[in-house]
Amino acid sequence: MISANPSQFEAWNGDNGHRWVASADQRDRVLAPVAEALFAVTAPTPGMCVLDIGCGCGATTLMAALEVGKAGSVFGIDLSQPMLDLARQRATTVGASNSTFVSGDAQTHGFKAGSVDLVISRFGTMFFSDPDAALINIGKAIRPGGRLCLATWQPLTANEWLTVPGAALLRHTDVPAGISNEPGMFAQSDPDVITATFSAAGLVNITIEANKVTLTLGQTVDEAVEYLADSGPGRILLETIPEGPARDAALADVRDALEDHQYPSGVRLDAGIWLITATRND
Ligand SMILES: C[S@@+](CC[C@H](N)C(=O)[O-])C[C@H]1O[C@@H](n2cnc3c(N)ncnc32)[C@H](O)[C@@H]1O
Repeated sequence: MISANPSQFEAWNGDNGHRWVASADQRDRVLAPVAEALFAVTAPTPGMCVLDIGCGCGATTLMAALEVGKAGSVFGIDLSQPMLDLARQRATTVGASNSTFVSGDAQTHGFKAGSVDLVISRFGTMFFSDPDAALINIGKAIRPGGRLCLATWQPLTANEWLTVPGAALLRHTDVPAGISNEPGMFAQSDPDVITATFSAAGLVNITIEANKVTLTLGQTVDEAVEYLADSGPGRILLETIPEGPARDAALADVRDALEDHQYPSGVRLDAGIWLITATRND
């Protein structure tokens, strides 16, 4: 596959993708509140055709497949082969014969024009080298009057689940150059940028709703540390600290910081997301 996003293609077919596959069930448990919040606004109904952008290992695609039922259909698109392989396995396991997983770059993929009632995505639209071109391309797949509903991250400061361990790590290292570079986790965290991109794609009735969810990062502090050490900014910061006593000391500080967030139901911290909805005009 030729991708318009070669570095993302490499990352999600390499380390990133394999890491997500290895911990797919755990990530889906942690991110379940995001899926619930997204589905509360998207509300797919029986018979719909739904497209899931950057579907990864297929959790939200298969949720949509249940909602649309046998009269409907669901397509997940992703550029990560290992993640798509797991998505297909999961679909077979749950008998979701109304789901199809497509290997492609959503920025340039030749979607059938006007074929989709609803586009959804949980954190799969922040990695485009040209977000305007990507949204125009995705928008064309939606039928006139159809909708698009995405979950993206609010800025770092709204995400306690990152700032609490991050502050502990920053006592041991500095923010490496490039951590905030786009495309990436925070590429759709500025409402002005989101509005401009969606408007340029000819989408209307754009709403950007701030939503706070509580993520259970693990049942124990050790599980939560393991999750954070393997995810996004936490991993990038940790990799700047040499393995051995220095890294052990940094991880001990992260553990201490998370102790305050241990509850009987697990280690729980707040996360800020945007729920973006829009309609295709015409
Ligand atoms: C943060 S993961 C989210 C995965 C999934 N939506 C979930 O919530 O579990 C981002 C996903 O977007 C995919 N992705 C990144 N750039 C893409 C592109 N240009 N086209 C299609 N998928 C892309 C990655 O391969 C990855 O699966």
